Amino acid sequence: MLEIKNLNKRYGKFYALRNLNLTVGDGELFGFVGANGAGKTTTMRICVGLLGADSGEVFIDGQKMLSHHRQLSNKVGYVPDFFGVYNSFTTMEYMQFFASAYGLIGEDADNLCLDLLRLVKLDHKLDTDVNGLSRGMKQRLCLARALVHNPDILFLDEPASGLDPRARYELKEILKNLSSMGKTIIISSHILPELSEMCTTIGIIDHGQMMLKGTIDEIHRAAAMQSPIIIVVEEHAIDAAFRVLQENPNVQHLSARANIIEVVFTGNKQDEAGLLTALVREGIPILSFTRQEGSLEALFMQIVNRGQAARNQQQGGVRR
Ligand SMILES: Nc1ncnc2c1ncn2[C@@H]1O[C@H](COP(=O)(O)OP(=O)(O)OP(=O)(O)O)[C@@H](O)[C@H]1O
Ligand SMILES: [Mg+2]
Repeated sequence: MLEIKNLNKRYGKFYALRNLNLTVGDGELFGFVGANGAGKTTTMRICVGLLGADSGEVFIDGQKMLSHHRQLSNKVGYVPDFFGVYNSFTTMEYMQFFASAYGLIGEDADNLCLDLLRLVKLDHKLDTDVNGLSRGMKQRLCLARALVHNPDILFLDEPASGLDPRARYELKEILKNLSSMGKTIIISSHILPELSEMCTTIGIIDHGQMMLKGTIDEIHRAAAMQSPIIIVVEEHAIDAAFRVLQENPNVQHLSARANIIEVVFTGNKQDEAGLLTALVREGIPILSFTRQEGSLEALFMQIVNRGQAARNQQQGGVRR
């Protein structure tokens, strides 16, 4: 389990992380979403012990993570958002090099390297120079490398960026596979819909703060809340329907086109059911009552915009 408590990180006067809190349970596939500069890489580098925080704590399986702490580093694997330059290594040699860094050498180590390269579908490239691998292959090699010491928690920083749709699909399959093997996975991206397809939980970070965290169902529900309820009634009942709708405190805005009413509604599913019941009780002839699935993109943008508006207000309209 990963626990991040009140993490703060400043670069000079600039706060990259502000009281960041996050818990990721065992076996979760957690999607860490944020725009450029939101603080994803900073968080990950602190979690894997590559960067020190100014204050706050990170716990891995209940043990406090300190920067450059070897014992706990063994519990975590990290796939950074860049691939270093390694001249004159073949794919297999590259794996053997990292295995040896963990004291793994000899036949067992070679078999492990081969198994991992098979897992990431690179076993046909054993003798290829790593610099001659495509971008997607390099990403997969980084993943194989990060698994060499069999970590419990795996951090992947934007592993899907720059990959074509097929490579993205393959990466997702590999990550789902690793998740089903019991590994806890934290994966970052700019794109919420991309992560929603494979993650069990999602967290949205903005300007170094966790703005929303929930299961994928909760995130979809939050997105649905953004879209209006569409009610189709018999045309003669429009005025009566408006009267009932206007009485509901969750109704923010009403508009109608012919016999189709659009309701901007802030309530949850239960409140929605209450609204429908009220209409039926008043004898409104309803032809349909639906709330479209919300757009994850729209939800993400709304959270980012809300954060910006709050900051503007705090700073009297002066942008950071
Ligand atoms: N070494 C550094 N020196 C100064 N500022 C930094 C440094 N590293 C990061 N920052 C700043 O901290 C903020 C968070 O950066 P970070 O790299 O964590 O964001 P990110 O969410 O990973 O963004 P991206 O999606 O672009 O990778 C940014 O505003 C960035 O400019
Ligand atoms: Mg980053």
